[in-house]
Amino acid sequence: MKIGIVGAGHIGANAARLFVNAGHQVAISNSRGPQTLAELAEELGDNAIAVNTDAAVHFGDVVLISIPFGRYRELPWNHFDGKIVIDSNNYYPERDGHYPELDDNKTTSSEMLGEFLPGARIVKAFNTIWFEHLKTQGNAELPMEQRRAIFIAGDDSEAKEIVAGLIADIGFAAVDTGFLHEGGMSQQPGTPIYNNDLTAREASRVLAAGA
Ligand SMILES: NC(=O)c1ccc[n+]([C@@H]2O[C@H](COP(=O)([O-])OP(=O)(O)OC[C@H]3O[C@@H](n4cnc5c(N)ncnc54)[C@H](OP(=O)(O)O)[C@@H]3O)[C@@H](O)[C@H]2O)c1
Repeated sequence: MKIGIVGAGHIGANAARLFVNAGHQVAISNSRGPQTLAELAEELGDNAIAVNTDAAVHFGDVVLISIPFGRYRELPWNHFDGKIVIDSNNYYPERDGHYPELDDNKTTSSEMLGEFLPGARIVKAFNTIWFEHLKTQGNAELPMEQRRAIFIAGDDSEAKEIVAGLIADIGFAAVDTGFLHEGGMSQQPGTPIYNNDLTAREASRVLAAGA
């Protein structure tokens, strides 16, 4: 599959490595331009290119957005129509500045991203796993229920299924927390599943207990 990755930091670069190793094609961008990603592109090999963000979005059937949430309004909002968008972002007010609607739990950062990107098929995923765990804990040899869980939330079931397939390709198990609003709330920083090292089997129990 062709995957665009916007953000080449802890999550973006490690996701790129995992997707390429699983046989996918990646186009990755950051805010400073592809010339600053030459070393990463070289390391990733023939199935990856460093590009600007417009090109990364255009390239991907699926686009992973992995930038500080507070910068989401810099994204090329009118390029996302029909794209499956994986949102790994978290809201950290001390980094991102305060958003009253998030401080009041009226909405989630993923819903705000979705409102900003008309036509994007948003799936919140990769936001609950620490990048060092993303780097090391995938194991495609394990049966699904024994794999490390990566939680997903979204309103588009086909998009979620495709993202769950990508998560399985890199050795993790997707665990669905529900619609973007409810699931998104349960995947936020501070919740019982956030940065919690759970297998898919354990994750289902934690969710059933009312996470
Ligand atoms: N670190 C974790 O373990 C972890 C785990 C789960 C979720 N998250 C969340 O995932 C997101 C990314 O985290 P991270 O730790 O990977 O961040 P990071 O290491 O600071 O990397 C951020 C990346 O985003 C790029 N970027 C910033 N603004 C951009 C823009 N307008 N257009 C394109 N690229 C832009 C940066 O490019 P430049 O360097 O060129 O500015 C950089 O490559 C955050 O929302 C974070 O809260 C992080």
